[in-house]
Amino acid sequence: MDYFAYTLGCLHCEGVDLAHVAQAVGTPTYVYSHATLKLHAERITEAFAELKPLICFAVKCSPNIHVLRTLADCGLGMDVVSGGELARALAAGVHPSKIVFAGVGKTDEEIRSALAVPHPDGTTAPIALFNVESQPELQALQSHAANLGVQARCALRVNPGVKAGGHEYIVTATSQSKFGVGLEHARALLARFGNNPHAPIVGLHMHLGSSILTPQPYAEALRRVLALIDHAAESGLTIQSLDLGGGFGADYQTGDAPAAVEYARVIVPMLRDRVARGLKIILEPGRTIAANAGVLLTRVLYVKQGHAEGEDKKFIICDAGMQTLLRPSLYGAFHFIWPTSVVPGQEPTRRDENLNLPGLELADVVGPVCESGDFLAKGRALPPVARGDLLAVFTAGAYGISMASRYNSHPLPAEVLVHGNDFQLIRRRETIAELLEHELNANPSHEGTGKGGDM
Ligand SMILES: Cc1ncc(COP(=O)(O)O)c(C=O)c1O
Repeated sequence: MDYFAYTLGCLHCEGVDLAHVAQAVGTPTYVYSHATLKLHAERITEAFAELKPLICFAVKCSPNIHVLRTLADCGLGMDVVSGGELARALAAGVHPSKIVFAGVGKTDEEIRSALAVPHPDGTTAPIALFNVESQPELQALQSHAANLGVQARCALRVNPGVKAGGHEYIVTATSQSKFGVGLEHARALLARFGNNPHAPIVGLHMHLGSSILTPQPYAEALRRVLALIDHAAESGLTIQSLDLGGGFGADYQTGDAPAAVEYARVIVPMLRDRVARGLKIILEPGRTIAANAGVLLTRVLYVKQGHAEGEDKKFIICDAGMQTLLRPSLYGAFHFIWPTSVVPGQEPTRRDENLNLPGLELADVVGPVCESGDFLAKGRALPPVARGDLLAVFTAGAYGISMASRYNSHPLPAEVLVHGNDFQLIRRRETIAELLEHELNANPSHEGTGKGGDM
């Protein structure tokens, strides 16, 4: 369920006609729905309410500060994986006690900054939890905490050995993955480092993958991780928190993903008693909240009739491509695409790869980038479109802008947040001047001396 719908043939986000947004801010532009973000945050909060979890939105999936602020206002904390994401969460006003920090490659600087985050009362203190992914990282964290004279809380990311997720690149919890440590290794690390005075291991963390469309992998992984918690307890180490990561699916096509309550129906009974005995649960949803809360607006630059093996082939060439939305090129991911303005009879009845409406024509929807792998859709049945038409790429709110690049020197797109009948520019489009600035002003203090800068 989301708040993008056609009214009288025109696609609206909440009360705003998306053609007006494109007119005002240009294309390509990501548009997010405030009401949809809020609805999805509320649904997951309600589904898992019995566990009273800390729900930390995965910033990597939709990192705009205004999106984060919307979700923070719904009570969510943030899951970050870099110093940049930490800065975003703080800029959005998220309290450090609601921030968890994962990632296999935390730099010393990132660790130090997360150990001394400014709190609203003027003091500095560590974030809520470091999700630690390896022994050397654990040792680095412990030594930084000791040097700064603070106590960090950390959770060991374990790899339960369960294969789950929509694409091999987003499967994260098998022995072949770079993330976390295997269960056997985890036992050894808990025994050796669990009671470190500067960074005790107080929790366990797992993240199975993304686009997991059934609750069963969670059940299987939980069985294994709960056994590890029991083993730790027998050895005298109390695990106080369990972070289940993210991974819940989204509706790229109507009806793809289970509702939050369906995951909860399996997960909550497995944890209810432990929560009653003091275990703190953390969830890190991203996609399930943000994906259907965003669309990408793109303008058709040209419609080109090509020829493939003697057959006519149509290319709809747009101003958005892999530089704007990488998922189709990277994962072969499906995004429903439709014109924002259609004639009667061509309003989509559902978002579906095989919509059967009269008058559709097959086309590849491609971008401007000089790569054959630059496409948004291949062989897609669409209403006829012409140069200048506006298309909406649906379910683009997650891993859209966050993976956008400047490839072929295209400036980064704009972002807009719709709230009821109003919309707000939440990231202005990058200009060509900004694109060049870091090179023209690479070292301002030495500019023009011809001597080069400090190397
Ligand atoms: C550690 C961690 N937590 C949470 C997420 C969010 O996953 P999703 O957007 O599938 O919910 C990710 C995604 O890669 C992740 O790596």
